[in-house]
Amino acid sequence: MKNIIVGQSGGPTAVINSSLLGVYKTAKDRGADTVYGMVHGIKGLLDGNVVDLSTRIRNELDMDLLKRTPSSFLGSCRYKLPDVNGHEDTYEKIFATLKKLDVCAFFYIGGNDSMDTIMRLTDYGNKIGSPIRFIGVPKTIDNDLAVTDHTPGFGSAAKYIAATTKEIIRDGLVYDYPVVSVIEVMGRNAGWLTAATALARGEDCEGVDEIYLPERVFDVDAFITRMGERLKENRSVVVAVSEGVKIADGRYVCELSDHVDYVDAFGHKQLAGTARFLAGRIAEKYGVKTRAIELSSLQRCAAHIQARIDVTEAYNCGGAAVKAAFEGKTGLVITLKRVSDDPYMCVAEAADVHEIANVEKKVPPEWITEDGTYVRQELVHYIMPLIQAEITPLWVNGLPRHVRLNETPLKR
Ligand code: F6P
Repeated sequence: MKNIIVGQSGGPTAVINSSLLGVYKTAKDRGADTVYGMVHGIKGLLDGNVVDLSTRIRNELDMDLLKRTPSSFLGSCRYKLPDVNGHEDTYEKIFATLKKLDVCAFFYIGGNDSMDTIMRLTDYGNKIGSPIRFIGVPKTIDNDLAVTDHTPGFGSAAKYIAATTKEIIRDGLVYDYPVVSVIEVMGRNAGWLTAATALARGEDCEGVDEIYLPERVFDVDAFITRMGERLKENRSVVVAVSEGVKIADGRYVCELSDHVDYVDAFGHKQLAGTARFLAGRIAEKYGVKTRAIELSSLQRCAAHIQARIDVTEAYNCGGAAVKAAFEGKTGLVITLKRVSDDPYMCVAEAADVHEIANVEKKVPPEWITEDGTYVRQELVHYIMPLIQAEITPLWVNGLPRHVRLNETPLKR
């Protein structure tokens, strides 16, 4: 039996380390020798930053803590591998390092951008006849991966967002004068996460008044007019907007005020400031108190409110990836197939990486109301099972305990 290597890539989630654990534990149980971790993903591998994971995951307690630790234990990157033509040296370097480490399988835990890395390495590996297997483990709070029913990380972020929205709604009603709260939710060009605010509505909560997803063109003037109408009826108005809402000419709403000049290696602009812009316009027009609530990184690192179902599925996806590689498969991404809604049940399958890399799965039009200001019950039913059950943090001195890599990586 040989060694394997695993890396984490892209934006983190509250359960990405459960997938890491799933890869590590399953590989060890199936007889792998060394399980290497790339520090900061493929970028780290290129720089020779690799750790032996067994020196960091030493016992059951480390494993329990790893599952409960947010963000990417190994560190992440947003690094796009170049086209092989003209950059053969980059690929030669990667494959030479993998050979030196005596690695038989490479696992990458990430979203649609990160699966581009699996795709390029698979294609190059096939071209040179390499025996190394490349398997993607799905992850993203955005839930925008093709083929799979949903992605690990989404459920926990949705649980945090729905719970926080309930709290914001209660807080908004505290005074006897009007307040408009605009909640800005991540998810880039897909509205899945923003839709999770709809889960706040129930017998103990009024729910948000309006929800705006990037799947629909956003009309700023129409939005301001609607807020005026809402203010005539309600003391507190709470609306949820996706960070990725765009106006008719294709610009993001957040670009209307902030100078968004940070663009990552995949060409994605940093999206932030939508809530601030809209809250400012409402205050200006109606002279009311407003709050711009940018959930930002809080929604993807809230490990204290992980959904147990999400932790389990994240772990299982890591395990399924190792199983596939050890059965000789390559060029695949693990996917989840929902086989039943009640009781909820998903099984792990796999899809060709070429069907998933760089593809964004959007909320289907039939799950958004006709006027584009709310989501339909079908979408609530889709999300609801994914936020179920809890996992208790290990509390130390009143705070959740985490693990850190905290080690000078091996230089290779
Ligand atoms: O892709 C996951 C995600 O959290 C998006 O929702 C968000 O737009 C983006 O990452 C933020 O990325 P970064 O951490 O690089 O600013």
